[in-house]
Amino acid sequence: MRIVTRVAEMRTACDEARRAGRTVGLVPTMGFLHAGHRSLMRAAREECDFVVVTLFVNPSQFAPGEDLGAYPRDPEGDAAVSRAEGVDLLFTPMVEEMYPEPGRTTVHVDGLTARLCGASRPTHFDGVTTVVAKLFSIAGPCRAYFGRKDAQQLAVVTRMATDLNLAVTVIGCPLVREADGVALSTRNAYLGAEEREAATALARALRRVAAEIVEGERDAAVVRGIVIDTIASQPLLTLDYAEVVDGVSLEPVTRLSGTVLVAIAVKVGRTRLIDNATFTFEGADKGVDEDDGVIADLGSTCSRADAGSGDS
Ligand code: PAF
Repeated sequence: MRIVTRVAEMRTACDEARRAGRTVGLVPTMGFLHAGHRSLMRAAREECDFVVVTLFVNPSQFAPGEDLGAYPRDPEGDAAVSRAEGVDLLFTPMVEEMYPEPGRTTVHVDGLTARLCGASRPTHFDGVTTVVAKLFSIAGPCRAYFGRKDAQQLAVVTRMATDLNLAVTVIGCPLVREADGVALSTRNAYLGAEEREAATALARALRRVAAEIVEGERDAAVVRGIVIDTIASQPLLTLDYAEVVDGVSLEPVTRLSGTVLVAIAVKVGRTRLIDNATFTFEGADKGVDEDDGVIADLGSTCSRADAGSGDS
C-alpha cells in the first residue's frame, strides 16, 4: 500500500490506474477506522481494481464549539487497517494541502441539507459537500463508497454528484452495528459505560418500529411516537430529532410507502449520536395494502473481533 499526502500524487496515482485499465474505488473517511469503514473498503475491494482510502479530518464540516480538536485520530492504526483490507493507496493530506488558502467556493445542496442533522448543524453539510467534491475532483472518475449510517450525508452527496454531472457513482453501504445494536461510530469512543448503555435505546427504538411496521403500522406519526417514547425512557438521552421521511427527498411523510427513512439524533452528555433504518414497501397498493412486503434495512451486526481495535 502506498501512502501519499499530496493532491498531485493522489491525482496522478488514480489517473495512472485508469490508464492501465483499472477501475478506481474511493472510500472517503476521517480516519479512526472501525468495522463500518472496513465494510466500505471491502465493498470497494470487491468491485474495483484500485482502492483508494482518504483520511482527512475536515475542519470545514465542524462548527465552532464542535469536537474538531477532540476528534479521535490514529494514523498508524488506520494505515494498518487499510493495509489489512488490501487498500492500494492511502491519501492523508494535511489541512494546508486541502485548503492552501481560505476557500471562496462552497458546494451547497439545497433543501436536502435543511432538515434532520442540518437543522441543528446548519454549516455541516456545506463542509461535507465541499470536501467531498474536492476529493471526487482529485480522484477523478470512480465509484465512491459511503455508509448508510450517515443516511442524510449519503442522500446529499448522491444528489450533488447527479446535479454536478460528476463522473462518480456513489454507492451506499449497509450500516454496521455492534453486538448490542449500537451503530458503529467514531464518536462512540467518547461514551462512558452508562452513556454507552443508554445509547442502545436508539437501535431498540428502530427495532420496535420495525416490529410495528411488520404488524402493519403505516402511520408515520405513530412510528415517530414509538421512537420518541423509547428515547424518552432513557434519562441520559436528549432527543434532537425523530423523523420519518422519504428515503430520497428526505421530506416528511405521513403514510409509509415506497422507501422511508426513520432517522434519530440524540445527545448523550456532550456526544451527538445518530441512527436510522430504511424500510421499503413493495406491493400493489404501496404502504396501504396489508399484503405489501416490507423490506427493512437495520444494518448488519459485527462481532467484537470484526470491529477491530479502533472501535468503541
Ligand atoms: O463521513 C465522513 O467521515 C465524512 O463526512 C467525509 C465523507 C469523509 C467527509 O469529510
